[in-house]
Amino acid sequence: MYDVLVLGSEGYLGSILVPYLAKKGYFITGIDKCFFGRNNSKKLKNYKLIRKDYNSLKEIFFKKFYFIIDLVNISNDPASELNPKFTNKINYLNKIKMIKKIRKCKNLKRYIYMSSCSVYGNNSKVINEKTNPAPISLYSKLCLKYEKKIIKNNYFSFTILRLGTLYGWSPRMRYDLAINKIIKDMIYLKKIEILGGEQQRFFCFNEFVCLAINQIIQDKKKYFLNKIFNLGVFNSNIVSLTQKIINLTKHKNVLVSHEKHNIDKRSYKVSMNSAKKFVVGKFNFNSYVSKSIIKCYKSIKRDKTPFDSKKITLNVYKDYLIKKKI
Ligand SMILES: NC(=O)c1ccc[n+]([C@@H]2O[C@H](COP(=O)([O-])OP(=O)(O)OC[C@H]3O[C@@H](n4cnc5c(N)ncnc54)[C@H](O)[C@@H]3O)[C@@H](O)[C@H]2O)c1
Repeated sequence: MYDVLVLGSEGYLGSILVPYLAKKGYFITGIDKCFFGRNNSKKLKNYKLIRKDYNSLKEIFFKKFYFIIDLVNISNDPASELNPKFTNKINYLNKIKMIKKIRKCKNLKRYIYMSSCSVYGNNSKVINEKTNPAPISLYSKLCLKYEKKIIKNNYFSFTILRLGTLYGWSPRMRYDLAINKIIKDMIYLKKIEILGGEQQRFFCFNEFVCLAINQIIQDKKKYFLNKIFNLGVFNSNIVSLTQKIINLTKHKNVLVSHEKHNIDKRSYKVSMNSAKKFVVGKFNFNSYVSKSIIKCYKSIKRDKTPFDSKKITLNVYKDYLIKKKI
């Protein structure tokens, strides 16, 4: 079985991806600076965590890996705007240094980078990978800039996934993600506050990303080689999404308040054609989405610390920057 390196292994996506891949039998090494703590169990077989900044890794370290899955990013607009210089280092400059270190890795079959559909900014047409990106935030501008570097340098085989906004339970829970936040507020505040609401967004269940990454690792026919894919499971505007969540979960006594003012400038609707390439056989996206939202709701209902400030990405980076005087 392959040796797989997961950068950012203890984050929201990493802490569901690592157990998923470990169960499939891959030998996984995780690198994480643990801004959000250690979130994968110490008991997990086939997994070793190295608590480090990915920038401190030497060229020789990367040699044994067949797959490198890069989940490191300050991946939240307000958190990335806190200190643009710091964000630029983590999300771009140090990555450029890293890809120079891994370009000589003979074993490397694929470098898989998680980018974001937020690179499309605001677009009223249905988007696909040929659509011109128009990123708005620093975070999405850096995602796009780095994608271009990977493609232009042509150092190694890659696959880039532009993810829709993620949702679903994770041991490193994020309540700064739209669906997770709506469900949390519905359960614990009995109130959902919609800002704007007409903005179209593309959503991706976090477990669907695991499935897609596994398909890329198993990609014998090189179907996903050196390409970009938009990945998500459904589109919706925030008003319809809220109603969908209430209907599916049958949660009672929820007050929905609607504030026309909207600070979120992003709005885009993404074609599902790419997502369909990652599923085999009959796969019903509608029922998958319904089941995933109900699963997410049941997990959030069991959350003992829904108001833990660490579950908001911005708070953690704010505290870190103050503590380190950056
Ligand atoms: N969550 C989403 O909705 C979403 C949407 C689109 C794309 N993405 C992309 O998916 C990836 C994973 O996102 P996430 O939600 O899991 O983010 P996350 O913030 O939960 O995870 C990132 C992890 O990287 C670690 N990290 C940060 N800087 C590091 C460094 N210098 N060295 C080592 N580790 C470091 C953090 O400690 C954290 O555990 C990111 O690339 C993100 O851009 C996420």
